[in-house]
Amino acid sequence: MDESIKVAPSLLAADFGRLSEEVAQVEPHVDFLHLDLMDGHFVPNLTFGMPVVAAMRRATSLFLDCHLMVTNPVSLFEPLQAAGADLVSCHIEVLPDPTRAAAEARRLGLGFGLVLNPATPFAAVAPFAELADMILVMTVDPGFGGQEFISAVLPKVEQARNWVDSHGLDADVEVDGGITAATAGMTRQAGANAFVAGSAIFRAEDPVAAVHQIRAAVGRNERQNPDHR
Ligand code: DX5
Ligand code: ZN
Repeated sequence: MDESIKVAPSLLAADFGRLSEEVAQVEPHVDFLHLDLMDGHFVPNLTFGMPVVAAMRRATSLFLDCHLMVTNPVSLFEPLQAAGADLVSCHIEVLPDPTRAAAEARRLGLGFGLVLNPATPFAAVAPFAELADMILVMTVDPGFGGQEFISAVLPKVEQARNWVDSHGLDADVEVDGGITAATAGMTRQAGANAFVAGSAIFRAEDPVAAVHQIRAAVGRNERQNPDHR
């Protein structure tokens, strides 16, 4: 496995009263920023929308990975692109055939990711994996930060990695939910290369040290691409 290791903080766990400072603190040490958009329908929670994405675009040059936990993700692509998003990832549970969504993301110049809930089998995304820049295997049920990692998902991380490698794809295999240094290590062994952590970074006493702990656990100490956009 020679794919690059990427570590991303999830904004959801940051202090919403000081978002730009929170991001600035970790920016030199992380590879991208993960933004969780929720609609109170696909998941029983609301987070933030375009004004916050646009504010983050002004605050940082980090690549903005938007995880859309919404029933109608495609309707958000244009406003997200206008707000400065770089990639949109959509749940396969709401887009059983994501072909048109992927084409729409490409048309707008956005990266495209496919996401699976813990209960969704890898087979649901396999036929469409070639459309994706990122396959996000959720390691908790989406909707809230601070939940416990579900280790039963590890074999699915392995399936995603095997599929990507055996089909010569260069999609990232991302994990999200309950990621700490310990669980990042487990998912790395299963083949993940992109690690999203909310609480483990922003709720740590020293967020920068927390990023380095995750990097150490997945076997890489430095950020891969200082030129991150
Ligand atoms: C959960 C979100 C996650 C969340 C992760 O629905 O998709 O990105 O912010 O938070 P932690 O790392 O605290 O589990
Ligand atoms: Zn997320």
